[in-house]
Amino acid sequence: MLIAGNWKMNKTTSETAEFCSSLKRRVDGLAGSVDISVFPPFTSLPAAVTGLADSEIAVGAQNVHWANEGPFTGEVSPPMLRELGVYAAIVGHSERRHHFGETDDMVALRAAGALEAGLFVIACVGETEIERETGEMQNVLRRQVGALSHDDRLVIAYEPVWAIGTGKTATPDQVREAHEFIKSLLDVPVLYGGSVTPGNCQDLLILDGVDGALVGGASLDLDTFGSICELAASRS
Ligand code: PGA
Repeated sequence: MLIAGNWKMNKTTSETAEFCSSLKRRVDGLAGSVDISVFPPFTSLPAAVTGLADSEIAVGAQNVHWANEGPFTGEVSPPMLRELGVYAAIVGHSERRHHFGETDDMVALRAAGALEAGLFVIACVGETEIERETGEMQNVLRRQVGALSHDDRLVIAYEPVWAIGTGKTATPDQVREAHEFIKSLLDVPVLYGGSVTPGNCQDLLILDGVDGALVGGASLDLDTFGSICELAASRS
């Protein structure tokens, strides 16, 4: 069971250092029952890696380019992350797809480049509300998952776009159905993401086919994120 905290564009270097030192104490003793990782913004990665060095909590990046180096202004490469001590990267988050125009092809390239460099990858997929309402969910997931290839270090996060940051969580039946479908396309661990809280994660983490959670807003608060990690550890 993996609980991953996607901080998005939150927490400066000093806020990261403070949070990590408290998080270590908060989840001390859970190692072995749940894998915990945090995904700070690029600028806060060194502080997180240093702050969590003597813990079991891993550090990942929120995006990664596919090339090792080159004329790609504003991008960060897999070896740059590896050298920092970063173990994983998220690719294809819906905010990248919708605000920054990332396509399935770009997401596939990012995933392949990161895996090739030895990083673990969390690739995000998920349908919008309109796509769900018009019966397109499976086609969207088939297209997004179909762009990816099996790898032992690849994890998929099913994040229905309508549930991200909205307080609307998918129901257990919706999650079960989507995770089953994704696993029928690609046999990898699948996390659920979208307004996960300590209140709703218990019902979701017990479902077959749910291998953990990608937590956004609720990962920014120590007690909330700590509680989700504890609940996950008790389900493992
Ligand atoms: P949320 O975000 O938990 O704030 O809905 C999840 C995500 O975007 O990964």
